[in-house]
Amino acid sequence: MTTSHDHAPSTKATWWQSAVIYEIYPRSFQDSDGDGVGDLEGIIQRLSYLEWLGIDAVWITPIYPSPLADFGYDVADYTDIHPLFGDLEAFDHLVEALHAKNIRLILDFVPNHTSEQHPWFLDAKSGPTSAHRDWYIWQNPAPTGGPPNNWVSIAGGGGWELDAESGQYYCHMFLKEQPDLNWRNPAVRRAMYDAMQFWLARGVDGFRLDVFWLLIKDWRFRNDPLNPDYQDGQPDFRRTLPIFSGDRPEIHEIATEMRALVESVDRDCVLIGEIYQPAEKLVTYYGEDGRGLHLPFNFNLMWQHWSPRPILAYIEEYEAALPADGWPSWVLGNHDQKRIASRVGPAQARVAMLVLLTLRGTPTLYYGDELALENVPIPPGQEQDPFGLAHPEQGRDPVRTPMPWSRQERHAGFTTGLPWLPLGNDHPDRCVELQRDDPASMLNLTRNLLALRRSSAALSRGAWSAAKVSGDVLAYVRETESERYLIVANLDDQVKTVGLDEQMGGVVALSTHDGRDGEPMDKVMELRGDEALIIRCQQNAS
Ligand code: NOJ
Ligand code: MG
Repeated sequence: MTTSHDHAPSTKATWWQSAVIYEIYPRSFQDSDGDGVGDLEGIIQRLSYLEWLGIDAVWITPIYPSPLADFGYDVADYTDIHPLFGDLEAFDHLVEALHAKNIRLILDFVPNHTSEQHPWFLDAKSGPTSAHRDWYIWQNPAPTGGPPNNWVSIAGGGGWELDAESGQYYCHMFLKEQPDLNWRNPAVRRAMYDAMQFWLARGVDGFRLDVFWLLIKDWRFRNDPLNPDYQDGQPDFRRTLPIFSGDRPEIHEIATEMRALVESVDRDCVLIGEIYQPAEKLVTYYGEDGRGLHLPFNFNLMWQHWSPRPILAYIEEYEAALPADGWPSWVLGNHDQKRIASRVGPAQARVAMLVLLTLRGTPTLYYGDELALENVPIPPGQEQDPFGLAHPEQGRDPVRTPMPWSRQERHAGFTTGLPWLPLGNDHPDRCVELQRDDPASMLNLTRNLLALRRSSAALSRGAWSAAKVSGDVLAYVRETESERYLIVANLDDQVKTVGLDEQMGGVVALSTHDGRDGEPMDKVMELRGDEALIIRCQQNAS
């Protein structure tokens, strides 16, 4: 029937283990004051939508005071709110309003770098003997002149900027407006932990930690080896293998310290790490004895070819690599990556949603993916993302466009003003209002999936195993002692015939297509192109 595996179904789940997280890019969710930029009050106005959809937690990308060189990932004050988004009072109101609906709030925290306008950096830049000089990473030029080593910036170009006055370079893994903090300095750690404490005291339920794997760099500043597989046209950061500029062993100390910090509050708070690493490295971030991050984000499904074998192989690799008590994480899209509906097409986006919401672990959904939004081409002159302005292939505007709410209102109800990025031409036709009324829409599929998942211990917390079925489909089982589901997904637009083991038969509980609910399934079944099914098995799990 099923292949065995090591992870027993967890019975005592914390909220974030059975939760589905919804990522909001606040600039683009809902504008409340007509300035064309979404804000905290706008999110509050859309709370009934989030409740109706059935997600459990919201992660909002940065809303701190910032010159917005990287749209808020350049923080100038860690304990306040940018006036564009509101103020601390609006923030408290948001926390309260979310909690009243039993939705948790996860704050984006940006520990790797500050804005160049942060008072710490302004002081650091004032001279080598300044109080905050060592809060950042300064190095002398290489003996032959030029940058200290070959580290590259993920935003494009080199990873060092010369400070002409002192003759030293400072390190920046992103824009030069985002100088990297020196996490080897205990004063930096204290200041950042104080900032986290500030938000914990205001009621947040956890943090999404920006580029967590980069916090600690090689103390000897060794060159990163060149990437032998680099191909022309790939972003600069692919030129090297970043083994010295990130993912250093000492990073795990920081994870443990942060874990202790969030555990010092009297409720369950979650630490999610943004970590772009392959499975075997990613899982080290759970920490020894589970004393690290709760959920290192797992992005790797996004890089697999969208066909049954590589997808299954990756799921198995990751499941096998996880520590016994490490809870999985799954992501198919975020504000930095191409929209899933553009990567696999709108029909497969439905299948992808079903897969994302039935794998074992905590899924994170990107706003608008429940509408199957696609990348929006940005007309020349309207681009905003500095990464894309400097290196067009790295532009992220197309995935950050405003949420379409209604058909008739201007700008689909997102703003009464001029939206900061254009809406997609066809996005008003995919708006919430229309999809809500269409039982076959992507939105209702997502909502039904969320409801089924929530109602079933097997689907939300049960064990995962590959299913033995014949046919070129992705098939797996989720089960507890008393419940078993078989998930069968056709990752192709061609009809597929699937042979089932006798004991796998059951009835269709949910399908990407109309009219199949309740249909009995036994030994042989046919899947239409782009179809995926959740089958409630009749035979109890043994
Ligand atoms: C990762 C964030 O997701 C991305 O949007 C940002 O540009 C970089 N970190 C730098 O903070
Ligand atoms: Mg606004």
